[in-house]
Amino acid sequence: MTGSDGVTATSYRTTLCGDLRPGHVGQRVTLGGWVHRSRDLGGLVFLDLRDRAGMVQVKVDPAVADAATVQVAEKVGVESVVLVEGDVVARPADGVNPELATGAIEVLARSLRVVGPAATPVLPVARGKGTPLPAEELRLRHRYLDLRRPELQQNLLLRHRLLQATRRYLSDRAFLELETPILTKPTPEGARDFLVPSRVHPGEFYALPQSPQIYKQLFMVCGFDRYFQVARCFRDEDLRADRQPEFTQIDIEASFVRQDDILALAEGLVQHLWAEAGIAVPTPFRRMTYAAAMEHYGCDRPDLRYGLEIADATAAFAPLDFGVTRAALAAGGRVRGIVVPGGAAWSRKQVDELEALAKGAGAGGLLRLKRVGSEYEGPVARFLDDAARAALALPDGSLWLGVAGPDRASSPALDRVRQECAARLGLADPARREFLVVVDFPMFERDPDTGALAAVHHPFTSPNPDDYAARPDDPASWRAVAYDVVLNGTELGGGSIRTSDPAVQSRMFALLGIGDVAEQERRFGFLLEGLRAGAPPHGGIAFGFDRIAMLLAGAPSLRDVIAFPKTTAARALFEGAPSTVPPEDLEALHVRVAAEPPGR
Ligand code: AMO
Repeated sequence: MTGSDGVTATSYRTTLCGDLRPGHVGQRVTLGGWVHRSRDLGGLVFLDLRDRAGMVQVKVDPAVADAATVQVAEKVGVESVVLVEGDVVARPADGVNPELATGAIEVLARSLRVVGPAATPVLPVARGKGTPLPAEELRLRHRYLDLRRPELQQNLLLRHRLLQATRRYLSDRAFLELETPILTKPTPEGARDFLVPSRVHPGEFYALPQSPQIYKQLFMVCGFDRYFQVARCFRDEDLRADRQPEFTQIDIEASFVRQDDILALAEGLVQHLWAEAGIAVPTPFRRMTYAAAMEHYGCDRPDLRYGLEIADATAAFAPLDFGVTRAALAAGGRVRGIVVPGGAAWSRKQVDELEALAKGAGAGGLLRLKRVGSEYEGPVARFLDDAARAALALPDGSLWLGVAGPDRASSPALDRVRQECAARLGLADPARREFLVVVDFPMFERDPDTGALAAVHHPFTSPNPDDYAARPDDPASWRAVAYDVVLNGTELGGGSIRTSDPAVQSRMFALLGIGDVAEQERRFGFLLEGLRAGAPPHGGIAFGFDRIAMLLAGAPSLRDVIAFPKTTAARALFEGAPSTVPPEDLEALHVRVAAEPPGR
C-alpha cells in the first residue's frame, strides 16, 4: 500500500484504487480513477481503474449493476475519469493476478459514472509488456498523457520521497531551510546566464541564479550557521542526458567546518537517500586525489566498477626508434595506454572505431599493439625490443591502446576509449555502486590559447593553504580545497571550503582577470562587503538532485524524473517555450530583437 489509505478519502471517494487489499473485502467503496483498459466479455465488462496508488479491477456484472451502469461501462473510452461505487470481493482463485498489488481482489460495481470523458488519447498510456514507447518528442509534446504512465508516476513519487528524506535528514541535523532569490545577479558557475530584462530600469537585467552560491555564503556571514535549500538553478549550456537548463540542487552550507566535516555530512545524506530507495550504502566512500584520478582514469569522475587503468608506458617507448612516440616525447609529452584483456580478438574495424573516438577527444591517433601467443601485431610491433615487451607486460590475447602526446590530449582520449572498451566488454555492472570522493582539485586551469586562468570549481573556493603559503606567486600550481562526490562515473555533487578572508578573495578575483577594484565591487561587492563584516570559516556542497533521482529510479535520462523537462534542444514542447512575444511587450522591456528567429 502507498500509506495513503485513510487520509485520501474525500467527499467523492472512500479510498485510492491502488490501496485496496484483501483486508477491504466486504467493504462498500467509492473510487475515482482513470480507465486504463476495458474488456467487454459480452455480458461482463472488466475495467482496470487507475490512480496514482495503482490499479484495481472493476467488474461490471448486469446481475449486480443497474442497466445504465452496464451501458456506460460498455462505451466508456480509455483514459476517461469515472466514479465507481461497489463492493470489494475476493477474486476466484484462478483469477488472482500476482503481478498487481490489488490482484487478489476486485470491485463489483453497483454504479459507474463518467465525470471526465477523454478524447481518444494520441498516445497509449497502457502498454503491453515489451511494447516500445512512442517517440520521446511526441511524449514530451503530450506530457499530460505521458505523466499518467505508471513508470513516470513511480519516478515522481520517488522524487517526492527523496525530497522529504532530504529535508528530514538535514533538518534533524540543525540545518535551516532558507530561500534565496530567483531574480538576482550573475553567479559564476561556468555556464552562461539566463537574463531577465527589467521593465522599470531600462537596459538593466536580472540573472537567474546558476546556483545560490553567494547567498548561501552570506547566510554564514549572517550567523545562520547551517543552511540548506532545495534550490532551482538555471544554466544556459549545451545539454546532455544528465544536464538540464533548469535543474534542482540540494544546496548545503555550514560554518566552522573543514573539508572532512562536509564530506561526512554529504556521505551521510547520500546513505540516507539510497536507504530511502531501499539500498544500503556503506560509508565512508573511497577517496582519490584529482591527480590520481587523471593519471589512472584520464578524468575527474572515474567509473570504478572496472579497471582498465591507464598506465604510463613512456619508459618502454623512450629508447625506441619509432617516429610517433619520439616526436611526442621530444615535445615534452608521454606515452600512456590501457591494456584490454581479450582485445586481441577485435577486428581492425572495431579498433578503428576506438581510434575515431580518441581523435574526437583530442588525440592525434591511437597506437595499437596485440599480443597473440608470443607474437606481437600492429603498427608498433616491429619497433619493439625485448626490454619494451617486458616493460609493457601484455598478457596473451590482450590489446594495448596508447596515446602519445601531452596529458591534456591523452587523458580525455584514453578516458573515452576506456569507457567504450568497458561498454563493449560489459564491464560496467549496473548492479554495482562505486561511490568515490575526488579531492584536491586544482584551483585554476589555464586556457591553452590565451593563458588566462579560470576557476576549476568557482572563484569563492579556498586555495589549499599550504600551496598558497609555499608558492604565493605560482597560482597555477595551487590545489583547491574542493571535492566532488562521484558514483559510477557520474558527478553527484561538488563543493568546497570557501575563502573567508576578503583580501584573499579579492586576490582570487584579480587572478581571474578582475583586477580592477571598482569592477570587483560592482560585480561581487555584496559578497566582499559581507566578508569584511566578519565571516566564519565556512564551506559546503551541492548535489544534483535530479541526477540522484534519475539514478535511484533507474531511469536513463533526467527527463524521466522531471515533470516538465526541456528537450536537448532546450525547448519545452508541452508548454511551447521559449516563444516569441508581442512587439509591445518587448517595447515595454526596452528590448529589441536583432535577428529574426531562424525558420520564420
Ligand atoms: P556544481 O556546479 O558542481 O556546484 O553543481 C553541483 C551539482 O549540480 C548538478 N548539476 C546539474 N544537474 C543537472 N543539470 C545541470 N545542467 C547541472 N549542472 C550541475 C551536478 C553537480 O555536481 N555552488 C556550487 C556548489 C558548492 O560549491 O557548494 C555548485 O553549483 O550533479
